[in-house]
Amino acid sequence: AHSPTTITITGAGGQIGYALLFRIAAGDMLGPDRPVRLRLLEIPQGVRSAEGAALELQDCAFPLLHSVDVTDDVGRGFHGADLALLVGARPRTAGMERGDLLAANAGIFGPQGAAIAAHAADGIQVVTVGNPANTNALIARAAADGVPAERFTALTRLDHNRAVGQLAQQLDARPDGIRDVTIWGNHSASQFPDVSHATADGTSVPALLAERLGPEAAAQWLDDVFVPRVAKRGAEIIEVRGSSSVASAANAAIDHVRDLVRGRPVDAGWTSAALVSRGEYGVPEGLVCSFPVRSDGSGYQVVEGLDLDGRARARIDASVAELVAERAAVQELGIL
Ligand code: NAI
Repeated sequence: AHSPTTITITGAGGQIGYALLFRIAAGDMLGPDRPVRLRLLEIPQGVRSAEGAALELQDCAFPLLHSVDVTDDVGRGFHGADLALLVGARPRTAGMERGDLLAANAGIFGPQGAAIAAHAADGIQVVTVGNPANTNALIARAAADGVPAERFTALTRLDHNRAVGQLAQQLDARPDGIRDVTIWGNHSASQFPDVSHATADGTSVPALLAERLGPEAAAQWLDDVFVPRVAKRGAEIIEVRGSSSVASAANAAIDHVRDLVRGRPVDAGWTSAALVSRGEYGVPEGLVCSFPVRSDGSGYQVVEGLDLDGRARARIDASVAELVAERAAVQELGIL
């Protein structure tokens, strides 16, 4: 039997936290054979909400749930953590400049990175969900002296799953028959959802689209409907639901961690995650950028060697330029 995995969830008293905790405790993330200890790290204003969730967790009597602790102490929060889900972040409020947003989040993710280096278990895996997710992960990593870069990832799986969902609908296909979609770049409106290598039930997605819509209309659908719809889906959800994506974000975080630690079957194709670049596809080293990735259960690896046409190259370069600008803005603040 496995010994319990200690999982720290920041912002656990928030909306995504509430959608995540019960699924983690039920075994959806690590599997039915892995007991968990949950550490809910909040700021003082969020502690009561996290404590309420902890009471409800107790009321579920989950067999896999060994303990739940709520704290607003960063050091205690990460003590012995095997896995950290960094969900709590400072949201952009009206009139806030990008620099203010990055500075406010650096004040969260810097100290958390340092606390992870000081207190977490040696094998810690750190997954950043809170926005701006890529740059928050970059900041946490920079502050986490001695923790290997490959232990830091950021969530673009929600964008990936959204892209798969859109294709499934357009092609009348089942989502699990759709393989090898890629989200490149930043988890922002500049991201590039790329279907050029994708297949549906073994047939090329671009070929299927051309067959259904005609070649010109297919190209147009990709550029004018699919890409913006996926990239701006968060805004569409807010518009329709009156509240941001919560259950789907929690679901994506669960998918991300499950593939990361349990591995992803080779015949399921690749997925997408933001990793610390080692220069793959010309992305500057050290940026946290979304790539096509596989996992054998020991972390994500970038799928290398894919052909990129001019359209893909230009869109990836544009999103990477945004990541470079975010990094530069953080550096200007004296944070990196
Ligand atoms: P929320 O506002 O409901 O919850 C955030 C929680 O974080 C609050 O309880 C707050 O008290 C807590 N918090 C703030 N600063 C903290 C700190 N320093 N330490 C610990 N906890 C802290 O927000 P929600 O809906 O749960 O979203 C959380 C984050 O996830 C947001 O930044 C959102 O933009 C991001 N997000 C990312 C997605 C992705 O695909 N990467 C998708 C959807 C949301």
